[in-house]
Amino acid sequence: MTVYLNGRFLPLAEARISPLDRGFLFGDGVYEVIPVYSRRPFRLDEHLSRLQTSLDGIHLPNPLSLEGWRTMIGQLVASADFVDQSVLLQVTRGADDKRDHAFPQGVAPTVFAFTAPLVTPSDATRAAGIAAITAPDTRWQRCDLKTISLLANVLARQQAVDAGAVETLLLRDGLLTEGAASSIFVVSEGVLLAPPKDHRVLPGITYDLVLELAARHGVSYAVRDISERELRAADELWMTSSTKEILPIVRLDGLPVGHGRPGPLAQQMYAWYRAFRD
Ligand code: PDD
Repeated sequence: MTVYLNGRFLPLAEARISPLDRGFLFGDGVYEVIPVYSRRPFRLDEHLSRLQTSLDGIHLPNPLSLEGWRTMIGQLVASADFVDQSVLLQVTRGADDKRDHAFPQGVAPTVFAFTAPLVTPSDATRAAGIAAITAPDTRWQRCDLKTISLLANVLARQQAVDAGAVETLLLRDGLLTEGAASSIFVVSEGVLLAPPKDHRVLPGITYDLVLELAARHGVSYAVRDISERELRAADELWMTSSTKEILPIVRLDGLPVGHGRPGPLAQQMYAWYRAFRD
């Protein structure tokens, strides 16, 4: 497998990052995950724009121009021997020989990218829907930045796996924020509800696309706070992300969501998503 590291394409086995890298020592960096269908990066400009926002949010200058990112990603995608891919981009504040929390001076960032086969949910999983649990959102107050400091997300996701579920829906101050690694939508009395994009959630690229498709196809929707009570009374629940696309949640904390089967709007939205994507 070929990876990109600091300006070079090289085999994964030859890619070396210092143990003093601040990504390793402090989780001091940001990342993106970009789906690629038939070697075409999907919503690339949106992902690169969110990467810029994340870099700005941690005061790290963008190491590449927009064109530089596009060219590098194009080369990486072309080098793989599979066509549907998931490209990871990661930028950290680099390796410094002192371990000091404050930013180092004159240190080059570490820029890493690799591509793996895109694994989306199978048709059977999509048709059956998945189980989710809820947990308190213990993350920090800048969840709008896509940082590599993911420990709270890791612990939340593992909680789901330990419970035999797929995703953990996070609740902060009695309100739904998002999933451990996904955005969450609620359908209630025919209206599609989405939590607002603020510091409590990652501004999902798939989230934006779902709302665009809702507007385009005349689905009534509202972007507003969603209470735990509304979450538990939902007719439909969906998780969305670049790798899971749109996936219905049919059980929450062991209880059925709606009728306990994927709802009609989830199926319709996925059909619109596929038509848009292909
Ligand atoms: N995660 N919220 C969180 C916390 C996420 O980690 C993700 C995606 C999303 C959905 O965002 P998008 O639609 O832009 O993929 C929401 C990626 C896939 C990951 O960490 O692997």
